[in-house]
Amino acid sequence: MSDYDILFEPVRIGPKVAPNRFYQVPHCNGLGYLRPRSHAAMRGTKAEGGWGVVCTEEVEIHPSSDIAPCIEGRIWDEHDVAGHRLMTAAVHAYGALAGIELTHAGLDAANESTHLTPIGPSSRGVLGGTGFEPVQTRAMTRRDLADVRRWHRKAALRARDAGFDIVYCYAAHGLTLPMQFLSRRYNDRTDEYGGSLVNRVRFLRELIEDTLDAVGDDCAVAVRLAVDELLGPAGITHDGEGSGDRRPVGRVA
Ligand SMILES: Cc1cc2nc3c(=O)[nH]c(=O)nc-3n(C[C@H](O)[C@H](O)[C@H](O)COP(=O)(O)O)c2cc1C
Repeated sequence: MSDYDILFEPVRIGPKVAPNRFYQVPHCNGLGYLRPRSHAAMRGTKAEGGWGVVCTEEVEIHPSSDIAPCIEGRIWDEHDVAGHRLMTAAVHAYGALAGIELTHAGLDAANESTHLTPIGPSSRGVLGGTGFEPVQTRAMTRRDLADVRRWHRKAALRARDAGFDIVYCYAAHGLTLPMQFLSRRYNDRTDEYGGSLVNRVRFLRELIEDTLDAVGDDCAVAVRLAVDELLGPAGITHDGEGSGDRRPVGRVA
């Protein structure tokens, strides 16, 4: 009996059971929607090697979350499901669980291939894209909030139909709308989605509740959440109350 035996024991995650504790968290690799066969083969190789859970990279839920020229996953509509089925089949072939990380990139999406107006909690210069052209987000209206919730729910249902066992709500790395709502740097709203921590976390909470409601009986619902950006008072801190100081990190006292 060794201290490490537990790593090889099955573990329940929501309605699913992973065969062991080796968990490949979401990460990009440049294959994404462009090369679904290579992507499936790469994830399948991980399952063959023994990982109990193998996840996708971040997967865009809608064309208004387009981070071209970078390549990542897409589950914009029904046409994207077949590509994801290749991956879930490759992972399931070795008894592992397959996870998908749904995302809307918000102010990280310059939408340089879809040319849709970028959206964010507040109006800001976009963080992503090639940087050749200045692009500004529109502060999300109530209609936008309802739209993103609807797109996320539909993407979760498509993910379940593609065979995924674990469906993520993604609020980390500064790259996603729910994290941008959490951050005082990017959120200066005065409605019930801005200001206090309870208000700033509202959008993420709604996405989690929507996802549980849509697919929670069939899939585990996971959350990737930044608890501290290590930016000092400028960022999200473990107590959730960063000041939102927008000066460059090096100059924050
Ligand atoms: C090239 C690259 C792409 C990544 N893409 C994602 C991603 O799409 N989604 C995500 O949640 N994390 C992503 N990550 C973060 C990784 O999941 C992971 O947390 C990071 O590499 C640190 O590893 P560790 O958590 O084992 O310390 C990425 C990291 C790298 C290096």
